[in-house]
Amino acid sequence: MRLTYTSDVWWKNAVVYCLDVETFKDGNGDGVGDFRGLTQQIDYLAGLGVTCLWLMPFFPTPNRDDGYDITDFYSIDPRLGTLGDFVEFMRTAHDRGMRVIADLVVNHTSDQHPWFKESRKSKSSPLRDWYVWSDKPEPDDPSKVVFPDKEDSLWEWDNRSKQYYLHSFYKHQPDLNVANPEVRDEITRILGFWMELGLSGFRVDAVPFLIENVDPKLPDPHEFLQDMRAFMTRRKGGSILLGEVNVPYEDLVAYFGDGLGDQVTMCFDFISMQRAWLSLARQNAGPLADALRERPEPPKDCQWAMFLRNHDELTLDKLTDEERQEVFDAFGPEKDMQIFGRGLRRRLPTMLGGDLRRVKMAYSLLFSLPGTPVIFYGEEIGMGENLDEEGRLAVRVPMQWTRDGGFSPAEPVREVPEGSFAPERVNVADQKRDTASLLRWFQLLIERYRECPELAWGTYTVLDAGHHAVFAHRCDADGATVVVAHNLCDTAVDAELELAGLEGQQLTDLLVDGTLDVSADAKVKLPLEPHGCRWLRASPPEIAPEDAGVMSQ
Ligand code: NOJ
Repeated sequence: MRLTYTSDVWWKNAVVYCLDVETFKDGNGDGVGDFRGLTQQIDYLAGLGVTCLWLMPFFPTPNRDDGYDITDFYSIDPRLGTLGDFVEFMRTAHDRGMRVIADLVVNHTSDQHPWFKESRKSKSSPLRDWYVWSDKPEPDDPSKVVFPDKEDSLWEWDNRSKQYYLHSFYKHQPDLNVANPEVRDEITRILGFWMELGLSGFRVDAVPFLIENVDPKLPDPHEFLQDMRAFMTRRKGGSILLGEVNVPYEDLVAYFGDGLGDQVTMCFDFISMQRAWLSLARQNAGPLADALRERPEPPKDCQWAMFLRNHDELTLDKLTDEERQEVFDAFGPEKDMQIFGRGLRRRLPTMLGGDLRRVKMAYSLLFSLPGTPVIFYGEEIGMGENLDEEGRLAVRVPMQWTRDGGFSPAEPVREVPEGSFAPERVNVADQKRDTASLLRWFQLLIERYRECPELAWGTYTVLDAGHHAVFAHRCDADGATVVVAHNLCDTAVDAELELAGLEGQQLTDLLVDGTLDVSADAKVKLPLEPHGCRWLRASPPEIAPEDAGVMSQ
């Protein structure tokens, strides 16, 4: 494969690292993470192999939804620094070859935003139509209430102006009305502002809500996504939208822009994420294999964003009740670990019982799955959650740099976990010195992932591995092939693969030393240790494996 493709269409095999400035590193000793602290850690992120940082909201906020409730889209939360600090951070990230994207949370504002304060003054306010108001809303569909622990309706009565306003999320987050051209203009201005300061794109919060929950309904809600993308492309060719679109595959393709790929550049693959957890729970590759076989191909230059955990609950909303219960039983049996009746507020290593082999296998799977991997800060060192923190904040604990935490010299904004996942046991400094650590494993996986662009760019085929616990697939691009196998169970197994077209070729292991021969009838027997994983590059015997992929172009 030609590497020049991967620099133009950079997002297709990027390594995206999501972090919250507030919990990453405190640079001024007040207990709250900030841009100065983050900037000091840029070399750590570059060394890990991250190519794109995704910053969670860093704007002024009353902080009732961890920053997803914004009062000013054009500045920085003073707790996190100044615009000057932001620009210095951007400059340093770019210097180290990293792009930066940020959350674009424009489905709603905080109820403390000056726009909403003005809008709610009276029915004749000039900003009245910036939000969605109704005298008598339709009765609520309880399944649409996103945070059922706190809300029982999507509408809130405003006593002052005597109407209800729509809030798809918390009642302190009134929905902006993108049916109003002035609101759309303002959103465009926000995009332009941050792109001018160097952002390469946005992770768009709650996309379906943004375009659907408006008044009046838009004749074609997707036109707004097209407009946003066109505006961004005009301003900066290689900018992207990464969409939070948790809908079934058949509805999802429309968000890329059917066939055209002119809307959201990348969509998170919530479906295969949930099926991957079901596969892990059952130690059976079936659910994940089915998801990837069913998954539609994104339009050219669009991509799936792959993840196992993020900053929210591990949502299992697209599984059946029985399947969800299986995942709960396996990975979060206690009520306190569960949330909203649909998810788990835990990080991956605790769910996998702290079994390092299994954790390593799970991340190997993530990096090898067709798409662009997105990781949440601290995953690379196997951080756990703190269930004493409220709701989803349990997984948003301070980054663990050293044995004594190293996040801040002051009392941290949130409590770190205790016990086996405390900083004393899980931290960057120790893992840097340990060649067998999870951190070193991540570095290896990222290095290999970048050296095998076939994984993200190629045509993938889910293989029948001859054993229910083995998830195996191959990725082919421009005559080069990478074959991958993961053993989801805790006993050693032999996989049997049939690799059409690779008859007589050699498979070179990219994670550990070793080679295997594909027989003349295209078969190969692949021994896998308990939770073992293998990434194999195919090459004809006369060509060195190093020359069989990118090097040959
Ligand atoms: C989705 C975000 O991921 C979540 O954290 C937030 O609470 C809601 N959108 C509301 O903004």
